[in-house]
Amino acid sequence: MTTPIPAADTLEADLLAAVAAVDTLDALEAVRVSALGKKGRITGQMKRLGGLDPDARREAGQALNAVKDAVAAALEARKAELAQAALAARLEAERVDVSLPIRPRPVGRIHPISQTIDEMIAIFADMGFEVAEGPDIEDDFHNFTALNMPPEHPARQMHDTFYLPDAQDGTARVLRTHTSPVQVRTMVGGTPPIRVVCPGRTYRSDYDMTHTPMFHQIEGLVIDEATHMGHLKGCLVEFCRAFFGIDDLPLRFRPSFFPFTEPSAEVDIGCSRTGGELKLGNHGDWLEILGCGMVHPKVLEMCGIDSTRYQGFAFGMGIERPAMLKYGIPDLRTFFDADLRWLKHYGFLPLDMPSLARGLNA
Ligand code: PHE
Repeated sequence: MTTPIPAADTLEADLLAAVAAVDTLDALEAVRVSALGKKGRITGQMKRLGGLDPDARREAGQALNAVKDAVAAALEARKAELAQAALAARLEAERVDVSLPIRPRPVGRIHPISQTIDEMIAIFADMGFEVAEGPDIEDDFHNFTALNMPPEHPARQMHDTFYLPDAQDGTARVLRTHTSPVQVRTMVGGTPPIRVVCPGRTYRSDYDMTHTPMFHQIEGLVIDEATHMGHLKGCLVEFCRAFFGIDDLPLRFRPSFFPFTEPSAEVDIGCSRTGGELKLGNHGDWLEILGCGMVHPKVLEMCGIDSTRYQGFAFGMGIERPAMLKYGIPDLRTFFDADLRWLKHYGFLPLDMPSLARGLNA
């Protein structure tokens, strides 16, 4: 004697009520398992069909299948409802009123020197230069000797050097007086072709209206097999016009002297000084902004580069002066006063990253 299959409609009503009663997806899953899982109520009944005689089995089987379909459909529908409700609740909880005013957070400003360095790097990077860096505390070899300024060379006197106590091994140390030692380090440590710019802090014992003991320079170095003065000129003309945003800014290359370049030149850009106001452009007057030249063969040799095969050019300029010119900052010393009001006025928003495509000074 087998226990009779319970009335299919009671089972269905029971299960549908259970489905309707749950209000979380977890609870719904529990109901599904209790009905259709391996040990679920419908499954249990299905297993018992085998013990019925054929007619009863067919009838009960059909009835159970109908229950199964109805319950499965109800589970599906409830699941969709609950998921929809969960989404609606989440949207409600995470509601954002985009019309509310923003609350600006005090994230500070980018110092005009940092901004100017970033702008210069952006221009040179576009021409294929990489950035190289070196230490602020240099040894005598990198700052002077390798740059064709042996001990007692008169050009050393021009630099108002800050000397530091000798290193333990006896090497003379200085605060670097220019960024040129970074070109030495780049040549000693690398092989041509070389194309680097080296921005950084430099130090000279000098303090007045137009000099601070710490200031910034950016150096450029190109070494390759067929580099000539024309490349140097093209590169600097391009740079100055892009940096100052003046397409017809004239440049004048004046013969000059640096121990580490031969020939050497100083570069002036066009300006006017009428009415005591300095204005850049094609106005007949000139303002000196950088030094440059073809790298001296002796420097190449001292840095381990074959000067019969390679040659190149170098240039170096201060960062403060171009920054003052471009951004109308009248007093050099204010750069280093750490005055927050000044920084708020002359500083840049951190998200205004200079790029050639977006503009250098948006
Ligand atoms: N190092 C030089 C200076 O500080 C500038 C310079 C760099 C000149 C590279 C020529 C070539 O005065």
